[in-house]
Amino acid sequence: MKIYVLNGPNLNLLGVREPEVYGYATYEELCSKIRLYASEKDIEVEIFQTNGEGALVDLIHKAFYDKADGIVINPAAYTHTSVALLDAVKSVNIPTVEVHISDVSTREPFRQFSYVREACVATVMGKGFDGYLAAMDILGSEK
Ligand code: DQA
Repeated sequence: MKIYVLNGPNLNLLGVREPEVYGYATYEELCSKIRLYASEKDIEVEIFQTNGEGALVDLIHKAFYDKADGIVINPAAYTHTSVALLDAVKSVNIPTVEVHISDVSTREPFRQFSYVREACVATVMGKGFDGYLAAMDILGSEK
């Protein structure tokens, strides 16, 4: 099974960025955790981070051309703004799980709406980095 893990803007600054919300662990630590879990579960994983909305759209297309079986996406702030990401996920027809490190449901009103959610098979939020592992489990059980 091949899973693409896509991370949106400012997630490269994990560990530095608002640690009271996102914790002190770094983006590299997140990637190591995902890679270790994937190897234990015999999942092939490709992990990307970009600050660009169009670049995230391109990565969703790349998952399609690369015949990924699933996508785990933390679109970060684009969650709450991007119709383009929603359309991209709808276009490729690959089971996709939306992940948020924080519990967006208890945060500011502008974080309550997610465009991409409608195209996702599940949403995992508020579980910290473990949410990415939970998302991989969900994709594994979808297959
Ligand atoms: C986030 C939540 C978003 O609201 C925020 O813009 C982020 C990170 C999360 O992982 O909790 O950048 O997606």
